[in-house]
Amino acid sequence: MRAVQFSEYGPPGVVHVAEVEAPHAGPGTIRVAVRASGLSVGETLIRAGTLRDLVPVTFPYRTGFDAAGVVDEIGAGVTGVAIGDAVFGMTGMTSRAANADAAVLTAWAPKPAGWSWAEAGGAAGTVETGTRVLDRLKVGAGHTVLVQGAAGGVGAVAVQLATARGATVIGTAAERNHDVLRSLGATPTTYGPGLVERVRALAPQGVDAVFDCARGALPDLIAIAGDPARVVTIADFAAAAHGVHFSRSAPAGTAGDPLAVHGLEIAVGLAAQGRLRVPVAAAFPLTEAAAAHDLAERRHAPGKIVLMH
Ligand SMILES: NC(=O)c1ccc[n+]([C@@H]2O[C@H](COP(=O)([O-])OP(=O)(O)OC[C@H]3O[C@@H](n4cnc5c(N)ncnc54)[C@H](OP(=O)(O)O)[C@@H]3O)[C@@H](O)[C@H]2O)c1
Repeated sequence: MRAVQFSEYGPPGVVHVAEVEAPHAGPGTIRVAVRASGLSVGETLIRAGTLRDLVPVTFPYRTGFDAAGVVDEIGAGVTGVAIGDAVFGMTGMTSRAANADAAVLTAWAPKPAGWSWAEAGGAAGTVETGTRVLDRLKVGAGHTVLVQGAAGGVGAVAVQLATARGATVIGTAAERNHDVLRSLGATPTTYGPGLVERVRALAPQGVDAVFDCARGALPDLIAIAGDPARVVTIADFAAAAHGVHFSRSAPAGTAGDPLAVHGLEIAVGLAAQGRLRVPVAAAFPLTEAAAAHDLAERRHAPGKIVLMH
């Protein structure tokens, strides 16, 4: 089968498709014939070598954390799913390898009928991340939440998850993405100089929680929240220096926050009510994974980047 991998750190061009042995479902897991898979923006940092001290990898490194497809193998002990079911889900944190013709999933849910394969392929990671951070920030009905970088893959889903919890959401994005943010349920504003004043004007009652999906603005985000404990970032490695929590998912028993896999079922329920969509910025053929990395690195894709199989 085909799998996307890289065998050295470097620019997007080191990413290539290789012929590899297909994996098999083990206990508690399922295998899917992948129809679409997500490009994990974090993996562009791993590929560039930026995270080499934080995230050690062995080469060749097979990419991809989430996928959607048709179940074709079921591991021991798994119930509630059948061969031929359409599902979306995620791989193990360390096993990865979802950007491949077959992928082993450790968490999954039925693919919502209203989602295309492309949407479903990029859903699990953004839903898990959004749920994990909103849980940590204890976002609920009546709260006002700022999502920084709200038009990106994670941000666009986080806006909808927060709105579904009954929160009022302000989202930052370049002006060309403001109509999209409105359609997702957020009040848009631009990021950059003057952010604190703009948000105060939009939310004179104050902001209860800030979800940072970008980086480089923590002092402003803390001023908006009034307390670093009310800010969580998934992207700013300067978090600790500002007293802000950096959320990253981790397997049980290791450093990091527990995976919010319960978010997948929440997403299924919201999708069935037409209250959650996964904006797809671009869908590349699997063979063009390097071009997908190139687009992701530019940091202005309006939504999730996916690979089609
Ligand atoms: N720790 C974790 O668990 C975890 C999980 C998933 C992702 N991440 C990280 O979280 C970040 C976001 O992921 P993603 O998939 O949503 O990325 P993405 O889709 O690439 O996000 C791009 C968005 O960032 C916005 N942006 C660019 N520069 C900005 C700035 N200076 N200030 C505010 N917003 C800016 C862009 O908005 P405009 O186009 O409107 O300018 C664009 O919509 C990435 O760094 C990723 O590695 C971490």
